[in-house]
This record gives sequence, structure tokens and C-alpha cells, in this order.
Amino acid sequence: MAVTRRELITGAAAGAAGLVVGGVVGKVAGDDGEGGGGGSSGLAGDAGKIADARGLSADDVARAVKSFVPPGKHDEYYLISSGGHSGQLLVIGVPSMQILKVIGVFSPEPWQGYGYGADWGEHNLNMGTGDTKPMSPSRGPKLLWGDTHHPAISETNGEYDGRFAYINDRANGRIAMVDLRDFKTKQILDVPNLDTSHGGCFVTQNSEYVHISTKVPTLIDYNNIDGALDNFAKSFRGYSTFLKIDQKTGQMLVDESFQVELPPYTQDLADSGKLVSHGWVFINSYNTEMASGGNMEGKVSLEAGASAADYDYMHMVNWQKGEEVIKAGKFKTVNGMKVITMETAVAEDMLFLVPEPRSPHGVDVSPSGTYMTVAGKLDPFVTIYTIDKLKAAIQNKDYEKIDQFGVPILKFDSCVEARIEVGAGPLHTQYDEKGHGYTSLFVASAVAKFSLGKPDYDGPDPFKLVDTLPVHYNIGHLCTMEGDTTKPDGKYLVSLNKWTIDRHPVTGTLRPQNFQLVDLTGEKMDIITDMPIGVGEPHYVQAIRADKIKAWEVYPPGTNPVTMEPDPNAVKDGDEGVTRNGNNVTVKMTITRSRFKPDIIRLKKGDKVTVHLTNIETTPDATHGFAIPRYNVNVSLDPGEYTMVEFEADAAGAFSMYCTEFCSALHLEMQGWMLIS
Ligand code: CUA
Repeated sequence: MAVTRRELITGAAAGAAGLVVGGVVGKVAGDDGEGGGGGSSGLAGDAGKIADARGLSADDVARAVKSFVPPGKHDEYYLISSGGHSGQLLVIGVPSMQILKVIGVFSPEPWQGYGYGADWGEHNLNMGTGDTKPMSPSRGPKLLWGDTHHPAISETNGEYDGRFAYINDRANGRIAMVDLRDFKTKQILDVPNLDTSHGGCFVTQNSEYVHISTKVPTLIDYNNIDGALDNFAKSFRGYSTFLKIDQKTGQMLVDESFQVELPPYTQDLADSGKLVSHGWVFINSYNTEMASGGNMEGKVSLEAGASAADYDYMHMVNWQKGEEVIKAGKFKTVNGMKVITMETAVAEDMLFLVPEPRSPHGVDVSPSGTYMTVAGKLDPFVTIYTIDKLKAAIQNKDYEKIDQFGVPILKFDSCVEARIEVGAGPLHTQYDEKGHGYTSLFVASAVAKFSLGKPDYDGPDPFKLVDTLPVHYNIGHLCTMEGDTTKPDGKYLVSLNKWTIDRHPVTGTLRPQNFQLVDLTGEKMDIITDMPIGVGEPHYVQAIRADKIKAWEVYPPGTNPVTMEPDPNAVKDGDEGVTRNGNNVTVKMTITRSRFKPDIIRLKKGDKVTVHLTNIETTPDATHGFAIPRYNVNVSLDPGEYTMVEFEADAAGAFSMYCTEFCSALHLEMQGWMLIS
């Protein structure tokens, strides 16, 4: 966006930054005609002098002002971002683009004591237990990582409500729930019948369910593993999973959940219907050719085989019909999960396929629920379907054919409303409040902005490309503020770029990923700032208005974060002590500035030790750690928090347990002895 000096001074370019800009503008205007001037910025006064000395243009200064959040002021939005193969979630402020928190999810996280002897790492979360899926004879070693991909914030009436966030593990077909009251992981579910999952993670309109689907289909025929790839259509199946959400706790309830069996295509990105399309979900697929590689076995390589046909299929699944089918008992139970077979799903009119240009990636439902925008990596167009046309084609049995698994394929021409040429390599689409779609273009390294039709867009030129913005480089997902809800804010866009190339100082051979913050308030899109991400490939983010997050600052005394309730084993001031029953030792300990009580624990080699720990502080920020050297024990307790540690005292010695947080002037004195003889 070209910002003139006059616009900057009068605040006409302020837009997003509002009051913040007002303050700076006042200063610049007040010093008019003095200093600065003649330099790179063309600005007057102190701001001009600083900008000139740093070689900044007036546009640079305007951008800096837009993302600047003064010390002590807060960001307007939270990004809930996947941390990619770090296995974690990142929380980032917008517009400052500063990391506020890293949440331990699928990988241990030492700062939060997550996975180092705390009760929730081992007992409640199934983290690190690989052997939970009964289907496979062997699940291999303990899982110590995940590949977080698609966060999904809970919704009410199709709007983010700030209660819970879900995140899938692309590598292992798991899904986790993070409670946004304390920003901690509360559940990891190893989803039955899923070996992998990619983009199928989202919640339905009122968080009835969180959805997760297979990416690579799951092996179901274990009788012929060697020949499985040659008999792909019989040996593998996909699954669309609807995990029931407990509205009070956010927990996923397997007993009230169900799956719909899908053909063994590779199901990919997906989205929930909303408002007029509520009750349906839309799942893209690629590799409907069911290619399985074999480039060293005299066969065509997987990538060539998977791109052979002109069309792949969007799957439409009606989950409301699915609920009725389950209620009527028309399911089978597979590995503890109710499964509606393909045969039943077809007979009950709840599963359809819709042709989409080959190798599609994103499918994104517009704010009104009317349009489904599909972006195909190998096609420079976005293809836009409407729910009315899809429903009419179903009603009229307007089928192109029936696929080999018996699933009807609707006629392409009957379902498509518009095709818009946006550029090379379109992937994902988000929306703003004015009826525009923003599509990431991976190959072109750009963002394309286009108009939808009614009721989302009321302007004169529906379904037209409006603007294109080059980004740096190789954009994958993108995110507008609340951009996949029924009421997006637009305002900013975050471009999630896979390659950095020249954007940041070189940090060796592995380079960070790059987020770019884009201003959407002007006529043209404009990049405000870059943010390197150095922890993994953050795949997707959602942006929620900060005032919707109602996070706790302290726990009520003795709270177990897993249940968010006072724990019966919580220790109160005065109840501390060590008790022994044979070689089972129970320690009850309170923690406050600046002591552990008891601060000496005497054990015998071979003791089985349980330590109940309670931080009895009531002051926000008064977090303490509890670490035992050489025992891999390291937990963190926030004010009011209860947690528990179990270990076997298998090595003798004098171990100096200590607090890992610099909590007070006597933090260094906050230590004690664990004597094991
Ligand atoms: Cu408690 Cu340092």
C-alpha cells in the first residue's frame, strides 16, 4: 500500500492501528517543519530523524506503526498456531507477531514440566504410550513426537467461543484437546482406525463434534500385508470421524462418537458446513487413482500415479443423518468405535462424491455457508460450489456415475457456480467480512483476493479476481482474523510461508519458516511485518479475538489441571508429611515462596515413591518448579495447582531437589534434599 506523507500525518492510513497511530501521528504533526526532511522518510520531526538515520521510508514507518503494540498494551488477536513437527502449539499475538506461549502437546515441554514425571504426561494423556490401538499387532516404540497440523477453536453458532482448541497429529492419527482456560493440553486421543490424519480437523457449528479424517487410508486387511499395496482397494479404507465434545470439559467422548467409512482415496483438507450447509462436512481427496508407488519395483512413482486422472473427488458427508443411523443401530463396532459402513452410508443418502479438478488441496466454506471454495494445486483456478446446487444434484440423483465402492458421483457441471483464475498453485482460502476470499498461491508465492457472490458479497462484480499480493516465499496456509467463521473480521491476514530465502539473517543450513502479517484494510493488500518461526513447520493457524479468551490467572486452591477441579490428593498447609507402607512411600508437599515443605525426604533404595505436590500460592505469576536431578523429574506448578510425581528410587545418593522458576529473591535458596540410601 502506498502511503503518502500526508496520509500518514493525517492518520488516513491508520486503519487497523487506530488509536496507536493517533498517538504517533500527533507527535509527527506537532513537529512539522523541523528536523528530519530531505532524508529517506521525508518525515518531519523526531520520527523523521530516526527514520532517516535507519534508512526507513514513510511506508516503512507506517507499517511499523501498524504492528507496534506499546509496552504494557495488549494485542488484539491471538493466533493459535500449530507448531508443526515440534509437536506443540504456538500462541502468537496480532498485530505484534510476538510469541506469547508454546503449549506442550505431543512432545515433552520442559518449561511446563510436560512429560517429565507429571501425572498428566504418563497417566492422563497417553503421551508416550504407543500401544493403544488394538487393531495393529504392534505399534512400535513409544511416541515422543507428533506433527501438529490443523488447530480448530471451538465454536458457538459458527463463531469462535474461546473455550477449547483441538489439534491433530498428522504423523500418528491422534488428536489433542487444549483447554483455553489455562492453555494446557488435557486430552490426547489415539483415534481408532486412523493411522494418519492431515487437514480433516475442524469443529462443527456448535462444537457438537470435532472432526478428524484419515489422510493415507488405514490398512484393514492384516492377512496379506505383503500384497496389500497390490490389492489397495480391498486392503485399505478411509474414515471420517465425528468425536463428540463434552460441552463442560471439552473432552472427546469415544462412546458417543462415530466414524463413516470412506473409499481408500487419500482424504485431505476438510471443512464444516455452516448455517445453510450446517449438518454437512466437505472433505477433499487426492490420489483417487489409489497409486501406491513402486518406482524401484518397475511401477510408476507415487506422485505421477496420483496425478494421472483429470478429477479427484470432494466427499460430502451428512453427519446429522449419521446421528440418526447410529441411533437406529445401523453400525458395526470396530476397535471400540461405531462405524457406519460405506454401504450403509450410501443407502442412507449420507455420502456423496463431487468431481474437483485434480490434486485439490483446500476446501473452505464461506461465512454464509453458501459457497465451498476448492483450490487445486495443479489448476490455476479456484472452483466454487454452492450448497443449493449440491443439494439439488443429490435430490435429482444427478449422478455422473457410481464409483467402484458404490458411492454416487454428482455431475460436476450441476454443482459448480463459478471458476476464477487466481494464479499458479492455489491451496487454501479464507474470507473477510465483505465477501472476499483470499487464496494462497504456493507456486506463484502470492495471495489472490477475489469476490464471492450473494449473500456473502453484495458488490457489482461477483466472482472476480480483485488483487494479488506477492509474499515471501512458498505460502502454504493463510489466515484472516476469525476468517473461517460465520462472522470474520478480515482486517489482517497472516501468510504462512514455507521458505524464507533472504528474509532473515542466516542461521545456518536449516532456515526458519516465515509468517507475514498483511494489512487488509486498504484498497491493496500490504505486507506489514515478517516473523521468523524457528521451531518447526507451523502448518495452519486460526486467529481469535483476544477479548473472547477468558483465561484463568490462578487456580482455585488444590486444582488438578486435568480435571480443573480441586483434587482429593491436594495438600493443604499443615497437612505435609512422609508416610511409608512397606517400600511404598507417599510424600505430601506444599510449595510456596521460598520453600518446599518437607525440604528433606529420606528414602531407601528400591522405594516406590509418590509425591503429591501443591503450590499454595494465590498470586498470579507465582509459579514454582520441582526438579530432582538424575531422576528425569521436572514439573511446574502454577499458583493453586496440584500435581503428582511417581518414580522408583533406584539410584542411591544425595539429590538436591530445587525450584526451576526464578520466583523470588530467595529463589536460589528454594531447594531441599532427597537422600536415598
Ligand atoms: Cu520457587 Cu524459585
